[in-house]
Amino acid sequence: MVFDYLPEEEKVYWLNYLVRMEVFHENMARRAETVDDSTGMHPRRCALLKEANLFYKDFYATAKSALSPLVSKDAMLDAKVLNFDYKGIGTFSFNYLIRDWAVKPAYQEEVITKSIVQKLVDLELDCSAATALFLGCGTGKYAVNLAPNYKQVEAFDASVLMIWCIERLQQLKTWEVLRKVERNCRKIEDTVERVRLEMTTSELDTIASKVHFFVADALKLPFKPNTIQHIHSIYFTDVLPLHQLYDRIIDYLLVEEGVFIHFGPLEYFFNNSQEMLTAEEVRLFFAQKGYRILCDEFLETKHLFNPNSMRHRVYENWFFIAQKPVASKTAALNVDSCLSLNSSINLQKTAVLNQGAPIEYEYSIALDEAAYQLPEVVYEMLLHCNGSTSINRILEVLELQDIAKEEQRQLLFILQELLDAKMIKI
Ligand SMILES: C[S@@+](CC[C@H](N)C(=O)[O-])C[C@H]1O[C@@H](n2cnc3c(N)ncnc32)[C@H](O)[C@@H]1O
Repeated sequence: MVFDYLPEEEKVYWLNYLVRMEVFHENMARRAETVDDSTGMHPRRCALLKEANLFYKDFYATAKSALSPLVSKDAMLDAKVLNFDYKGIGTFSFNYLIRDWAVKPAYQEEVITKSIVQKLVDLELDCSAATALFLGCGTGKYAVNLAPNYKQVEAFDASVLMIWCIERLQQLKTWEVLRKVERNCRKIEDTVERVRLEMTTSELDTIASKVHFFVADALKLPFKPNTIQHIHSIYFTDVLPLHQLYDRIIDYLLVEEGVFIHFGPLEYFFNNSQEMLTAEEVRLFFAQKGYRILCDEFLETKHLFNPNSMRHRVYENWFFIAQKPVASKTAALNVDSCLSLNSSINLQKTAVLNQGAPIEYEYSIALDEAAYQLPEVVYEMLLHCNGSTSINRILEVLELQDIAKEEQRQLLFILQELLDAKMIKI
């Protein structure tokens, strides 16, 4: 279960969060008992609001009761744990859960799934032996819909509650949920929507046989490089700056000829406008890295359409597929190559203290579980790798231009190894 494998400090964080949400909705339900006639609010609407708030309260209380047995009293009182600076994403919305799992399939979900499946067929991409990874999968329906095409599906989200809901629906199979619609309603009865969610037997079997849902931060994934055939980024590419997404996920995880599948409107959920790339820039970025562009289309959908509301968004979604080149891993270095560092590497100079002896230093480079000790000269060279300075120029800057041919060959050999391990890039 999702709560079992969270680190202790995250368990405490989530328990506190769930308690706060439970109490908040309980208070909201109580407030809805008192109708203030002067506002014009109809008593029936108050009754609906109270009912919906009690449903939300029960929702958080149920999650809380699953988590609380896993949290010790000591942990709840541990100042270090309580002060833990939680960087995860806590958002949960019934909108995604309902769009994904309402008995009547949501139109948006059908359009997206069908378009992707059709495109995989048109492009003759054989997926039967492939592992697909779904980034920020939310409540998981796309991963389940597309899973029959694949051998194995890995799907994660940073929101514990999104993944918890998938597990809850797996247990319940059907689940009556209420959704508050606080604005844009035509009628009083529209302010609370009653929806029956369902996971069919075939969906349950698909999950059991090949879909692994888990909680994770996209920048800390547990996979080895070059192990994933397809990466699906459905409404996710705009969550992270492209250079991070590319360096740490797409190019790092994809096998040669693996494909990156993007679907969504590039809405951008961060603030640095320099990183809010247009579709054109994203396409150029991949093309410059040698990726083959297999799909570049736009497709309109109503986003999270809710019939009870007079408002919804319409997205002109960008549907983009790029295929990793075969040669990228084995590009050969030469003295004219300009190198840059993978943004996730840990390059370190560590003092080694031996009593009485002068301080010595050790140099190392690490990426995930792979680590190398480096000669000092390679460490110094890496400090100058900025993507635009050639190896020749770096040797000049370090006054090493006259080293013997054999020494230069050895330096290139070490750099080539770092390149193959994706610690540096050309
Ligand atoms: C716009 S929603 C899309 C959800 C899903 N792909 C869909 O289309 O239904 C973005 C999702 O990314 C998740 N998310 C945001 N930042 C994340 C991160 N750093 N790592 C993993 N998931 C993240 C959010 O919790 C949210 O579920």
